[in-house]
Amino acid sequence: MTTTTVKYASQSVSRLYFIGALCLFVGQIVFGITLGLQYVIGDLFFPAIPFNIARMVHTNLLIVWLLMGFMGSAYYLIPEESETELHSPVLAKALFWIFLVAGALTILGYLLVPYATLAAATGNDFWATMGREFLEQPLPTKLGIVVVALGFLFNVSMTVLKGRKTAISLVLLMGLWGLALLFLFSFVNPSNLVRDKMYWWFVVHLWVEGVWELILGALLAFLLVKTTGVDREVIDKWLYLIITFALVTGILGTGHHFYFIGLPGYWQWVGSVFSALEPIPFFAMTLFAFNMVQRRRRDHPNQAAVLWTVGCAVMGFLGAGLWGFIHTLSPVNYYTHGTQVTAAHGHLAFYGAYVMVVIAMISYAMPILRGREANPPRAQAIEMWSFWVMSISMGVMVLALTGAGVLQVWLQRMPTDGAMSFMATQDQLRFFYWVRIAGGVGFLAGLVMYLWSFFVGPSADEAGVPAAASLQRA
Ligand code: HEM
Ligand code: HEM
Ligand SMILES: [Fe+2]
Repeated sequence: MTTTTVKYASQSVSRLYFIGALCLFVGQIVFGITLGLQYVIGDLFFPAIPFNIARMVHTNLLIVWLLMGFMGSAYYLIPEESETELHSPVLAKALFWIFLVAGALTILGYLLVPYATLAAATGNDFWATMGREFLEQPLPTKLGIVVVALGFLFNVSMTVLKGRKTAISLVLLMGLWGLALLFLFSFVNPSNLVRDKMYWWFVVHLWVEGVWELILGALLAFLLVKTTGVDREVIDKWLYLIITFALVTGILGTGHHFYFIGLPGYWQWVGSVFSALEPIPFFAMTLFAFNMVQRRRRDHPNQAAVLWTVGCAVMGFLGAGLWGFIHTLSPVNYYTHGTQVTAAHGHLAFYGAYVMVVIAMISYAMPILRGREANPPRAQAIEMWSFWVMSISMGVMVLALTGAGVLQVWLQRMPTDGAMSFMATQDQLRFFYWVRIAGGVGFLAGLVMYLWSFFVGPSADEAGVPAAASLQRA
């Protein structure tokens, strides 16, 4: 284990973002397990924490911590790629605290005040933006997100402008700007339900199947450059290929959400054809990761980060590509729309692509931020175990939800007469819902292991002189 420090002192602001993100991640999972339990014990915590509130907390925490993870990753990556200090580390730190406090107040608002009261108290009558899944935030929070995003983009863009411009940093910037600009559609909320839904998907779909893929591609490329030492020329070519496929398929692929919401019929074709091609960029990411690792010029000492990077490319393909494809064709979606199949896909895709890429960045950067190139082998072993425990537990949850979804379609959606009612069907799915909880508890255990690995020092024989020195620096 050798000692290393960050190349640019200002990269260390990312540490704050990574710690914040991991804390909120724990909160997200605790609420996930609460939700899972409420599925089988209907009145659990009622009326203190109803299902709809817990769900909102679960999904909003997910989005907020992923954004924090992206920002932390950018603050780490951009100075290194641009070969210059961050434009303003003070601004980056200030925005972190603003974001954290605004996020915490919003979550407290959800938990302590009835949603309608919160809406009335925060100006929703004046400008209605609340009440849509993932975008439930009160108006002041949404405005706060815009301010934080603008400050963040100003900071990283100025850094790139004054420094070296690489393909990785430019693609990352495009993704981050796209993320912020598309969020503006969350302020457009017409009373016409069809148009409302359409603008909602402009945020949700064009995020995860558009601009976030650019962020994902750039972060994977950065991780692979650093851990494999393969030439940038090769890595850049893959990156361009991936983002081109992502945009060509993902933009018109939005049509897979327009089948049954009142938009013109041609979307059945456009949505089916283009979204059926959306797995291509995700598959390309898998090939990319394996290819680069095979061609590696060095064995990086941080094998845990390599595992998370390759794992992300594989699980992202399974969750987004495969589980997305199974319900994306219009004649299939006619039956599966809004069933547990959707939830299975939503979980595996978010975990595989975005949760895992943020963890991969944290696993790579955090040891360096703490003054060593990689964690001691004992800590890395625990980290790798946590990878398997989290990923297998997620697999259990997703298979349970897929089973539930298939049975739900069979009982409730397929029969032309004598279909089972929604609630009677849900009663038949109990077994799967219990298995989902088991998976969720396993997932939390994996996450705790991951956090624990940060506190594990070298074992007695690993703790040679250099290792002890590096620990002191940390
Ligand atoms: C990492 C990328 C992706 C993420 C994070 C993601 C996440 C999600 C989530 C959370 C939903 C549920 C939205 C809701 O609340 O209604 C959803 C719906 C959907 N996704 Fe994805 N997705 C991704 C990629 C894909 C891809 C590549 C495809 C197609 C190949 C796809 C096909 C679909 C379809 C068809 C629906 C609608 C399901 C329904 O009708 O109920 N997704 N996705
Ligand atoms: C990294 C881990 C997780 C991610 C990325 C995640 C993501 C999500 C997303 C995107 C949704 C909205 C899905 C949709 O509309 O289809 C959701 C809802 C939900 N999640 Fe999670 N989640 C995670 C962990 C968990 C865990 C551990 C549990 C419980 C054991 C859980 C239980 C639920 C439940 C019950 C819902 C509500 C589904 C419904 O409305 O019927 N989640 N989660
Ligand atoms: Fe989509």
